[in-house]
Amino acid sequence: MILIIDFGSQTCHLIGRRIRDMGVPAEIILPDEALKEIKNRQPRGIILSGGPSSVYADNALLIDNKIFNLNIPVMGICYGLQIMGHQLGGKVSPGKKKEYGPTVCRLKTDNRLFNGLPDTIRVWMSHFDTVVKPPLGARVIGSTPHVKIAAVADEEKYFYGVQFHPEVHHTKYGSMILENFVLSICQETPVKIEVKPDELVKGIKEIIGKNKAVCALSGGIDSTVSAVLTYKSIGQNLTCFYVDTGLMRSNETEEIIKNFRNNFKFKLKIIKAENIFLENLKGVTDPEEKRKIIGETFIRVFENNARSLNARYLVQGTIYPDIIESKGTLHADKIKTHHNVGGIPVRHGFTIVEPLRQFYKDEVRLLAGQLKIPETVIHRHVFPGPGLAVRIIGEVTKEKLDILRKADLIVVEEIKKAGLYEKIWMAFAVLTGIKTTGVAGDERKYGETIAVRVIESKDTMTADWVKLPYPLLARISERIVNEVFEVVRVVYDITTKPPATMEWE
Ligand code: XMP
Repeated sequence: MILIIDFGSQTCHLIGRRIRDMGVPAEIILPDEALKEIKNRQPRGIILSGGPSSVYADNALLIDNKIFNLNIPVMGICYGLQIMGHQLGGKVSPGKKKEYGPTVCRLKTDNRLFNGLPDTIRVWMSHFDTVVKPPLGARVIGSTPHVKIAAVADEEKYFYGVQFHPEVHHTKYGSMILENFVLSICQETPVKIEVKPDELVKGIKEIIGKNKAVCALSGGIDSTVSAVLTYKSIGQNLTCFYVDTGLMRSNETEEIIKNFRNNFKFKLKIIKAENIFLENLKGVTDPEEKRKIIGETFIRVFENNARSLNARYLVQGTIYPDIIESKGTLHADKIKTHHNVGGIPVRHGFTIVEPLRQFYKDEVRLLAGQLKIPETVIHRHVFPGPGLAVRIIGEVTKEKLDILRKADLIVVEEIKKAGLYEKIWMAFAVLTGIKTTGVAGDERKYGETIAVRVIESKDTMTADWVKLPYPLLARISERIVNEVFEVVRVVYDITTKPPATMEWE
């Protein structure tokens, strides 16, 4: 097995995931307990994850130097490499330039870590500090235009480090680098590990037993898979709630209801709650406050409706990235409060059940295939629980929602017409709240600016914007300014994640 020391990276869990995908067990441990755990568990390799802090910060997370004397191969990733530099006789200093997102890395491939790779690869970075002197005994095996020491190797001690993130899908050849470390350097032997729906069904039964449960169904794949697993587990003791928050896309509620009634046997209750949501959001402009209010409103609506059913369990489709971005691990920084994790108030009357808590989206898609969930649900784009509220910058009002719905529908229609819908992660419009000057006929017109965001991703932790053909962009823009009266300008969002997140709020 491989032990991963978690310094709070947003993608620490992904390292474990990649190793698990190879068929090798991997576990995440904390820096304080690392030496003890490593001595007890005797892993074949150790990975030091990234993390948000600096090795020079007051409370910097460091590790016991004895870990480097145990004759176990070590690989440092991002902050992990900086720890190796700092603790093993090298030097780390604040970078001159922040570096987030894609860059090109030149590799020396005459070593075990980069064996078989091309000499230039596209990698994803997310850092500020850099190693300026390699650890004693290590040589430089990778550089980017901004970072001279982007990868190091001490082939005698089996120590390696990279400044970029091999675990994210967007680092080309990242899996090969991790495979070189785990399978060739650490000499692990892979065994096939599978996700078994039956075991998840059994797990849910053990928690809920003969009690009644409600499931928060959004129409997306995560909550649908959770509902199907729970239905298999407790049958008619499950009632699914679909809450129409008023923050939905055009025709969304009607389509979801039709889809569920046609495909699934579980009991479904539709709750119309637009007025409560809009009332609670009145005057609110701060994105985190919006998210918290929506999380709280959801739970109160569930409580009110679950009382008559005598249901104490609430099943949610929370997946791992929701947790990690809402600060689900000890040293991780909070990126945003996902409505179904950090947005939930402390006091509520439910025991929360989250069957997919440990999974990534692509794993959930595989699970959905095993459960024979219809393709339309599997390939439906992700839609965040807070809905259009996090795509309207500033206060959310019915009027703004209506403008955004019209623009959003055009984006999705055109993407579908171009045959791209199933190939991308999400395509949507954002009401930016920026008013700009336009000219309509011969008159001045002062109106709204819509941003279009079309992105591709695999596991939500990183994303790239889609290079849509110009004629398609032109059609989307022309239709929005012609068909949505209030809008005078359309812009295309060309930012990767990191540094931007997918949603604007
Ligand atoms: P970000 O904006 O964090 O989005 O890069 C990553 C993915 O998560 C979705 N998202 C959410 N989903 N509740 C959800 O159910 C939320 O509060 C939430 N916030 C973001 C987002 O649409 C994207 O697919």
